[in-house]
Amino acid sequence: TILVLDFGSQYTHLITRRLRELNVYSEMLPCTQKIADLAWKPKGVILSGGPYSVYAEDAPHVDPAVFDLNVPILGICYGLQELAWHFGKNVAAGEKREYGRTNVQVTRHNGHIDHLFDGLEDGLEVWMSHGDKLSKLPDNWVTTATTSNAPYAGIAHSSKPYYGIQFHPEVTHTPMGKYVIKNFAVGICKAQQNWTMGAFVDKEIARIRGLVGDKAQVIGAVSGGVDSTVAAKLMQKAIGDRFHAVMVDNGVLRLNEAIEVEQNLREGLGINLTVIDASKLFLGRLAGVSDPEKKRKIIGNTFIDIFQDEAKRIAAAAENTERAGKIEWFLQGTLYPDVIESISFKGPSATIKTHHNVGGLPEKMDLKLIEPLRELFKDEVRALGTEMGIPDDLVWRHPFPGPGIAIRIIGEVTPDRVRIAQEADKIWISEIKEAEYYRAISQAYAAVLGVKAVAVVGDQRLHGEIIHLRAVQTTDFMTADAFEDFSLKWLKRVSGRIANEVSGVARVVYETTSKPPATIELE
Ligand code: XMP
Repeated sequence: TILVLDFGSQYTHLITRRLRELNVYSEMLPCTQKIADLAWKPKGVILSGGPYSVYAEDAPHVDPAVFDLNVPILGICYGLQELAWHFGKNVAAGEKREYGRTNVQVTRHNGHIDHLFDGLEDGLEVWMSHGDKLSKLPDNWVTTATTSNAPYAGIAHSSKPYYGIQFHPEVTHTPMGKYVIKNFAVGICKAQQNWTMGAFVDKEIARIRGLVGDKAQVIGAVSGGVDSTVAAKLMQKAIGDRFHAVMVDNGVLRLNEAIEVEQNLREGLGINLTVIDASKLFLGRLAGVSDPEKKRKIIGNTFIDIFQDEAKRIAAAAENTERAGKIEWFLQGTLYPDVIESISFKGPSATIKTHHNVGGLPEKMDLKLIEPLRELFKDEVRALGTEMGIPDDLVWRHPFPGPGIAIRIIGEVTPDRVRIAQEADKIWISEIKEAEYYRAISQAYAAVLGVKAVAVVGDQRLHGEIIHLRAVQTTDFMTADAFEDFSLKWLKRVSGRIANEVSGVARVVYETTSKPPATIELE
């Protein structure tokens, strides 16, 4: 394992990414991590970049015990400053340097000092980002790279395996950066390249069995989305029917969603699943409500009510059987980016995004949390799903919001509008799949605008709904672009199908706004 200590750079998680791509396992912890509290010994440590100045009074510093581990250390950007500061407090000066692409010239020495740049050319295109620049080297350190502007773009200790680089090897703007990281992790630290999804499945199943024991039971909500399905399948593999998956049909799911999830998860994947049809209750509570935040609250609270009742029922049934014990755990499909967000020492937020943490249910029900996906990025979750035999259709599904179609109908959510949105969405998505755009698109849906327009159907004037089609491309869902590879001709044909086949539809429009300023969902 390579330990990545995060000093708050926006790129830190990319270091972990690059290591994972090398099949090297790594863990990222805040820079304030006490080395004595680590339960494992890293093969090497990377100090990330960060927005601070090492000699500022409130600057974060690494636990000096990191130098007693006797393992290689790589400091990137702020990490380089931190190394220099540790070895000679007065050597760094606060001069600003440039931001963006630049070229570094590698200086070769003899011996270990060169290993970071092994196999690379002497001139490298790299990405620099704001920070101070080093003005003088600490004793026993040498220069390993320079730029026209920075005499110490790369430094190394003359006898110990400590390296600093001012540029960011983890970003794609440093084309050879991944080889620098590989040289460090594999060449210098000798980290094993054995992080694969197959290895992960075995390790995680063993961890789950160890945690849960051979009697306790686990409950979890599933939505039909990739994260909850993969998490549920992993639990099923680890503890079989002692894992109880619950799906609540809230009446604002995609068309036939509950039936399809039931087939996929129970019959296809052998998961112990209960589906509860609570659509009437949800739609009843949503009647007359137009405010989007109120809709979200009603759906969230109703979900909690239903889920808790079901958990009690399952618990009561479980206590009457001899083979198993009490429900003690709550499964949550938290992913690594959510964990990163919550561990950062300066923390934008100390809590996991609320829609990942089903309304505080585990605390309310006094259950312990089990999070088998907490080390994984989204694409790793997909690879894990494929590894466990989950079909492609499910693994590559677009995300779907918890409040479902309710936030895709502007204004009141009536059963008829839900039907219209569901039927239009079915046609939209099946056409997108048919034309093989589905994988290139990150999220697509059909919504109901909630204002009416006129159409003429047969000889009749129809005052009908306007369907709003959206399809976006994004990598992180923070920014997004409208998908633009459809031809107008294709869009016209699909619009025609929706207007003709879905009763009550007068018009169809396609949205071209980006996020920002728009959001992906309508409200
Ligand atoms: P926005 O609309 O904010 O959406 O650009 C970004 C991503 O978040 C999803 N989203 C939600 N998911 N509950 C959820 O579970 C919500 O209330 C919610 N609002 C937005 C949205 O589908 C997109 O993937």
